[in-house]
Amino acid sequence: MGFCVAIDGPAAAGKGTVSKAVATHFGFAHLDTGLLYRAVGAKVLSGMEPAAAAQALVPTDLTARDLRTPEVAQAASRVAVVPEVRAALVQFQQDFAARDGGAVLDGRDIGTVICPTAEAKLYVTASADVRAKRRFDELLAKGMDVTLVDVLADVQARDTRDRERVEAPLVAAVDAVVIDTSDLSIDAAVAAAIAAIEEVRA
Ligand code: C5P
Repeated sequence: MGFCVAIDGPAAAGKGTVSKAVATHFGFAHLDTGLLYRAVGAKVLSGMEPAAAAQALVPTDLTARDLRTPEVAQAASRVAVVPEVRAALVQFQQDFAARDGGAVLDGRDIGTVICPTAEAKLYVTASADVRAKRRFDELLAKGMDVTLVDVLADVQARDTRDRERVEAPLVAAVDAVVIDTSDLSIDAAVAAAIAAIEEVRA
């Protein structure tokens, strides 16, 4: 029997860290759906047309180049407004969500569009300043030449685009448990997520 955990939230809120830890804790498979949009964005940066790039996506596109750069993130959020791009990625995500043994998917529209019947839904968020600082530290650790001001602008531009798009906008599902990680350690955020999921598994 499948068990789907849907984890949504804005950029750099800690969804990735929480999702990986939750998947490990429960022995579920994990899909970072942002990587699909990043891979499409990267193909568009190399000259492809968005819908064609999404329709031609293959697993190696997810590992072929570093998709965790601010440039690719912006490209991802631009292709994510295109309905044909979103439509091309739905089936893969829904098949993943239905797999036996349980699945954790994190993204922007998992609890609202991809898995509206998910057994557990979380909305992981934090203030824009905290999210920008975390992303800034991550990029610095990777040796990238970035400034906090630029990273904050990048996060805010993506938030606005993700929240205001017509198709599958970023919004908490009405039945999602909201976890604000602004003042939480990683361990505390993970513990809150596990507790929320345990509650519906009981
Ligand atoms: O989660 P991540 O920051 O890697 O996502 C990159 C971009 O992909 C987001 O800003 C958003 O525009 C898009 N995205 C989306 N729906 C998802 C996951 C990501 O629109 N389920």
